[in-house]
Amino acid sequence: MAQLWGGRFTKETDQLVYNFNASITFDQKFYREDIEGSVAHVKMLAATGILTEDEKDQILAGLEGILEDVESGKLLITSEYEDIHSFVEANLIDRIGDAGKKLHTGRSRNDQVALDMKLYTRKEIVELKGLVKDLIVVLHNLMREHVDTFMPGFTHLQKAQPITLAHHFGAYMEMFKRDYDRLCDIFERMNYCPIGSGALAGTTYPLDRNMTAELLGFKGPTLNSMDSVSDRDYVIELLSAMSTIMMHLSRFSEEVIIWNSNEYQFVELDDAYSTGSSIMPQKKNPDIAELVRGKTGRVYGALTQMLTTMKGIPLAYNKDMQEDKEMTFDAIDTVKGCLALFTGMIKTMTVNKDKMEQSAKNGFTNATDAADYLVNHGVPFRDAHGIVGQLVLYCIEKNISLDDMSLEEYKKISPVFEEDIYEAISLKTCVEKRTTIGAPGKAAMEQVIAINEDWIANL
Ligand code: ARG
Repeated sequence: MAQLWGGRFTKETDQLVYNFNASITFDQKFYREDIEGSVAHVKMLAATGILTEDEKDQILAGLEGILEDVESGKLLITSEYEDIHSFVEANLIDRIGDAGKKLHTGRSRNDQVALDMKLYTRKEIVELKGLVKDLIVVLHNLMREHVDTFMPGFTHLQKAQPITLAHHFGAYMEMFKRDYDRLCDIFERMNYCPIGSGALAGTTYPLDRNMTAELLGFKGPTLNSMDSVSDRDYVIELLSAMSTIMMHLSRFSEEVIIWNSNEYQFVELDDAYSTGSSIMPQKKNPDIAELVRGKTGRVYGALTQMLTTMKGIPLAYNKDMQEDKEMTFDAIDTVKGCLALFTGMIKTMTVNKDKMEQSAKNGFTNATDAADYLVNHGVPFRDAHGIVGQLVLYCIEKNISLDDMSLEEYKKISPVFEEDIYEAISLKTCVEKRTTIGAPGKAAMEQVIAINEDWIANL
């Protein structure tokens, strides 16, 4: 049991207590960040005259050696140390002797862990942004490809009005653009450096906190040492943003599952992204989409856990905060995996344009447009709604669509109909007439696609 704080104690810690208290099994995940933080801290200690140049050089060489040996697998991080901070410090002292004992001058594990967690989270935000961007680019290409792919738009999962697949993908595009922006916002807000806050009340050394902040790429130092060591808002914000990403992926997954079903056949998932059944040879299951939908609960769980953990904690650091790591790490890894797999899945799926178009034709999705036709010929909307209702009923009885009715049949229900009704209710017309920005008409879609093109180019 390698402990940093044995001096005041007369007895060994009970083994169960030690195990319960230790965090090495999970905080070893940020050994790089712990060393990176120490490197900056030591440079600052030398610049301010708290350490000599020689001590600094020895410590930096020692830290570099530890990093290399951990990366190469020569040095194993084992649970004989309480946490990653103890592991690094103990190894440093083993390697360089007395100078190593000065590493912890002017800092506490409280500001150290706050820094490590921030450095780790910041790095992961950058990775998450990259993965969301990959998905956005795939969606952008799909939108460009499917401006003329007609399909039914749904409300209540009932066919409502015709749209295009580009328009449908475009809805998710907006969601993922917001997700991307949210990640940027969190990064900006959290990007202040906590090291130098000490245990809670700063330190008595003449630290240059601006310098450490700058060395580590922060905008500046945090402004209150008590808040610095006990702020986990950025973890909560990230978990919240990731929960929203998962909610979007989950909704999209649900649609892919429906579209890929035998009843719909709007899309076919690539073999590489589907799985089979051990008993039913005909099956090709959308397991990836289902798992993404399923794992959403896991990420929500991490958000709830973290909010609950933080809610009763008085200032400043309390050990409860050690619980900020495991579920957050798991959530980050889960979201990264889901984003990468989901992107691959939609990139490789085949779109069955005919089925989509056929489905839009069969579901009376042009009924609103038939009513609009009457309105344009002077019939009040409420009457037009009733007339088209009768048309639909007639079609249902005959098992045909509005496009299949003869002009005679139309005229029997309302004499206002003329030959141009067919043009007015064709899928293409129904979509093309919707030209306001945000609507599925081709001209409007192309405007949005151009905006998205710029948006992506400016990332
Ligand atoms: N393992 C601890 C954590 O993750 C590090 C900080 C320990 N500080 C302390 N005062 N015991 O929060």
